[in-house]
Amino acid sequence: MDFKEIIRVIPDFPQAGISFKDITTLLMDGGAYHQAIDALRERVAHLQIDLIAGPEARGFVIGAPLAYALGVGFIPIRKSGKLPYETIEVGYDLEYGKDRLAMHTDAVRPGQNVLIADDLLATGGTISTAVNLVRQLGGNVVGAAFLIELEELNGRAKLPDVEIISLLSYDA
Ligand code: PRP
Ligand code: MG
Repeated sequence: MDFKEIIRVIPDFPQAGISFKDITTLLMDGGAYHQAIDALRERVAHLQIDLIAGPEARGFVIGAPLAYALGVGFIPIRKSGKLPYETIEVGYDLEYGKDRLAMHTDAVRPGQNVLIADDLLATGGTISTAVNLVRQLGGNVVGAAFLIELEELNGRAKLPDVEIISLLSYDA
């Protein structure tokens, strides 16, 4: 299946010069969504995974079904102020803006193998923050899986020690 035919590209959203990869057109196509998650499951099959961590919001729609398919737990990484229990937090820069991400302090036990999952790798700011959070709790980041990688932004260079897996590549 050619997922790129199903993912809608919106020019100049949310600001001029950004070519937004709109995955809602893939998510609403049951067969395509299922095949995309299955394809990611195959691409991570060689990894030892105890847990998947996904950053709010689009990381949930990739990470949670992938965790379900693998039969492992899912950890939500959320924007600051959303999680009810004790958290650790890290600030980060986005492709367009700034934010803070948080994780419950008991989400990962030391030595657990964690795969990070998200819809998109752009500058790598989000994934670096997720990796930082997991490592602060003693987790072992075994890889990071994405539906889409924007190659020109070279996000993977921020994480030379993490195996990056992406289903689709776009120039930017
Ligand atoms: C988008 C996308 C990735 C991140 C990628 O999330 O879902 O998480 O940007 O960019 P980066 O590699 O430059 O960090 P966004 O923060 O826009 O929020 P959302 O998932 O809640 O829509
Ligand atoms: Mg996101």
